[in-house]
Amino acid sequence: MLDDLTNLQSLLKDPTLVATKGYLAGEWCEGDNAQTFPVYNPARGDIIADVSDISRAQTAEAISIAEKAQKIWADRPAKERSNIMRIWYNLMMENQEDLATILTAEQGKPLEEAKGEIGYGASFIEFFAEEAKRIYGETIPGHQADKRITVLKQPIGVAASITPWNFPNAMITRKAGPALAAGCAFVARPAAETPLSALAMGVLADRAGLPKGILSIIPSSRSSDIGKEFCENPIIRKLTFTGSTEVGRILLKQASEQIMKCSMELGGNAPFIVFDDADIDAAVEGAILCKFRNNGQTCVCANRIYVQSGVYKEFAEKLSLAVSKMKVGDGLTNGTALGPLINIEAIKKVQEHIADAKSKGANVILGGEVVQGAGNFLTPTIVTEATKDMLVSKEETFGPFAPLFEFENEDEVIELANDTIFGLASYFYAKDLTRVYKVAEALEYGIVGVNTGIISTEVAPFGGVKQSGLGREGSHHGIDDYLEMKYICMSI
Ligand code: SIN
Repeated sequence: MLDDLTNLQSLLKDPTLVATKGYLAGEWCEGDNAQTFPVYNPARGDIIADVSDISRAQTAEAISIAEKAQKIWADRPAKERSNIMRIWYNLMMENQEDLATILTAEQGKPLEEAKGEIGYGASFIEFFAEEAKRIYGETIPGHQADKRITVLKQPIGVAASITPWNFPNAMITRKAGPALAAGCAFVARPAAETPLSALAMGVLADRAGLPKGILSIIPSSRSSDIGKEFCENPIIRKLTFTGSTEVGRILLKQASEQIMKCSMELGGNAPFIVFDDADIDAAVEGAILCKFRNNGQTCVCANRIYVQSGVYKEFAEKLSLAVSKMKVGDGLTNGTALGPLINIEAIKKVQEHIADAKSKGANVILGGEVVQGAGNFLTPTIVTEATKDMLVSKEETFGPFAPLFEFENEDEVIELANDTIFGLASYFYAKDLTRVYKVAEALEYGIVGVNTGIISTEVAPFGGVKQSGLGREGSHHGIDDYLEMKYICMSI
């Protein structure tokens, strides 16, 4: 049972990891006029902490300190930056269990899954600590006999991030890792629903010896104020955002005033295709991982499941049986497979998609009920006979709703899968090699999972095409967004 800060702290080996003040340029600060905002436990609906509500003016102050600190940080040898980041990574892994408990308390995902997120999040710090030493420039043969051309890669300056509540740790580290490695300062605004995970990372960054000013973590209930400060402050040279396409569009418009570099990891509407030559048991397992990870609250979750007619019935039965065994409950309770949704609005959105599908002829074969009592719980829901006129075929549900669409052939399903404004992740299961290549090449997505439902890793470039975003995060490409190229033309 968890319903206040003391309770949360009592679950931790190191209670000092629970920080409730803002981390502004290396100092722990209250909000102006000691203002706070509440953080809820979605499994119980209770307030677990009151966190300092940092204002726009305080954010501007942290950004101007960051500007000075960044120059000193960038001048340090890459190996020194790398060593500090490595210590930060080690501290995250040493405190994995505690960080996971904090994460589950405010976000809801089952504890084991939260531990997985901490490992995933920390891996970006580890990976980019190594990449810091590999920011190579270039020499280009001169265009005239007396010319020598050198290309330098230099840090862009101060980078700002806005991140969502679904991955309160990993979405920040995936941006902070390359930024710090490149020699940038980093100002992060975590989601108001999940600031505690971000602030706990601030505690560890401080312990790791990250110089003051290089990292700020801005808890705030005033998302549009902070967003405006990031977009309008000329010191910020890079904005990185993970969240909805709708908000991404607003930020891009605001950021156009300062012509700053932007990377956007936005919404998805992932197709998950099962062909008749697929290993059906493997496809069921992959669909569960992909659809129900974080209870359907990821941008890369399967949103539309297309199953070829010859295996449709078998797949539907096997999926329904396996999902019926998944236990819904408090993420801090042993054996929970599906935690709560983040809030009531999230439940309403899933219910809207289910009701719409039912009204247009879908057949509910599992779930569909809100669990009565405290907390934001919904049973996982599967429908058959889904069709393309249903809301779910156009919009991301962001919850535990799996609609099964039936199709006849490859060309038909490729057309259906690509019929969306989004292009983040896609998945398919098949064995025939010609089919595998043809379909992988035809899917208009930044990420294609073939015979796997999990595609996330720090070593690969994560990101979307179309209205799913701009830029790539993770892999050696992930650092490019935090670097500027400078070409030096020398006459000798
Ligand atoms: C997301 O939902 O935005 C990220 C998911 C991931 O990194 O796997």
